[in-house]
Amino acid sequence: MAMKEEFKRIRHEYGKKVLLESEIDQNPFKQFKQWFETALDNKLLDANAMCLSTVSDKGRPSSRILLLKDFDESGFCFFTNYNSKKGIELEKNPYASMVFFWPKLERQIRIEGIIEKLDTTKSDTYFKERPIGSRMAAAVSPQSKAIESREELDQMIQDFSQKHGNQFKRPDFWGGYKLVPDLFEFWQGRENRLNDRIEYKLEEKLWIQSRLAP
Ligand SMILES: Cc1cc2nc3c(=O)[nH]c(=O)nc-3n(C[C@H](O)[C@H](O)[C@H](O)COP(=O)(O)O)c2cc1C
Repeated sequence: MAMKEEFKRIRHEYGKKVLLESEIDQNPFKQFKQWFETALDNKLLDANAMCLSTVSDKGRPSSRILLLKDFDESGFCFFTNYNSKKGIELEKNPYASMVFFWPKLERQIRIEGIIEKLDTTKSDTYFKERPIGSRMAAAVSPQSKAIESREELDQMIQDFSQKHGNQFKRPDFWGGYKLVPDLFEFWQGRENRLNDRIEYKLEEKLWIQSRLAP
């Protein structure tokens, strides 16, 4: 396979900022909030996009990008189809990880923990806030299933729209999840790949902080 060789030479030197124990918040949720607000202030494209990894009951991992829609000290929320590949995997194995990467800030955040379904009221509230097109897509698309063609999907949307207009409720198979973390890692790129990595692990209800080797 012919391939441009330049990509092997891609080598960005990090070093805009540092992450020091003396400056980092003792509470990882507050630290997340601080970095997330900086990402928003910097108007990064899809600053709330993260990679969610799930693992099948056979131990096989799979990853995809999702949008973080809410967070507080109880966890990190996203919305999706409960019958999707991730939904089925989470049903059998509720452990998952999220990773945010903000290249402009030379930062990465990893979060690991256990996933819970959001209660139906929260899912209803968020569903109502979505634009009509997204609500319809959520209600119609059999996410992660094989479909015949693009035309079939477009037809399904058209049929649904004719039947229901914009008068329909959140389907039971679509809603929110919350990742309840027991591990965070904040990563700041540094010179010569000697990056700063600060991990927080939840041990007996206390967040234990350690510096990890880059
Ligand atoms: C920037 C971006 C944001 C996305 N946000 C979501 C989302 O919030 N929820 C969702 O179900 N899929 C979202 N997707 C699509 C997912 O990556 C994925 O294709 C879909 O959820 C099906 O994944 P699965 O088959 O592993 O379950 C997004 C994709 C991108 C690139």
